[in-house]
Amino acid sequence: MTKPQTISVTKPIVEDLPSEKFDELEAFIDNMETTKGALIEILHKAQDIFGYLPRDVQLYVARKLGIPGAEVYGVVSFYSYFTTKPGGKHTLSVCMGTACFVRGADKVIEKLKEKLGVESNEITEDGLFTLKDVRCIGACGLAPVVTVGDKVYGRVKEEDIDDIIKAYRG
Ligand code: FES
Repeated sequence: MTKPQTISVTKPIVEDLPSEKFDELEAFIDNMETTKGALIEILHKAQDIFGYLPRDVQLYVARKLGIPGAEVYGVVSFYSYFTTKPGGKHTLSVCMGTACFVRGADKVIEKLKEKLGVESNEITEDGLFTLKDVRCIGACGLAPVVTVGDKVYGRVKEEDIDDIIKAYRG
């Protein structure tokens, strides 16, 4: 198979979006066997690298692949996995699956909202946490479950929340 030509484009210079990250994304795209049908894979990689997909990154991908920006935007907005806003340093997720819900996940998330001063999918003012409510994460035996990044907290009660937050706020 012949390797399709990717386009050499000028990388945007944007504050908060380091050029090394664009270099990394460019290298990833240039090393692909083919970019045909690979838009989603490329966007996954871009989100891994940047943490989110701001407009400048979407436009860069579009220019690099020689496709309309609207096509990239269409894919980004279609899949809820993709996010166009930066997240907090840590993602604090509360499982709202059935097992967790019946064991009080609703109380846990309400307490977290109150303590952090945010609603679901919002970032705390200090940029430390993004609060999320998620579906079953497969740890029902530990219900109700809260995760911070990769760390899993099981059988969480409202009283535990201060300690969990403190562990990250120091
Ligand atoms: S319902 Fe929460 S881990 Fe399964």
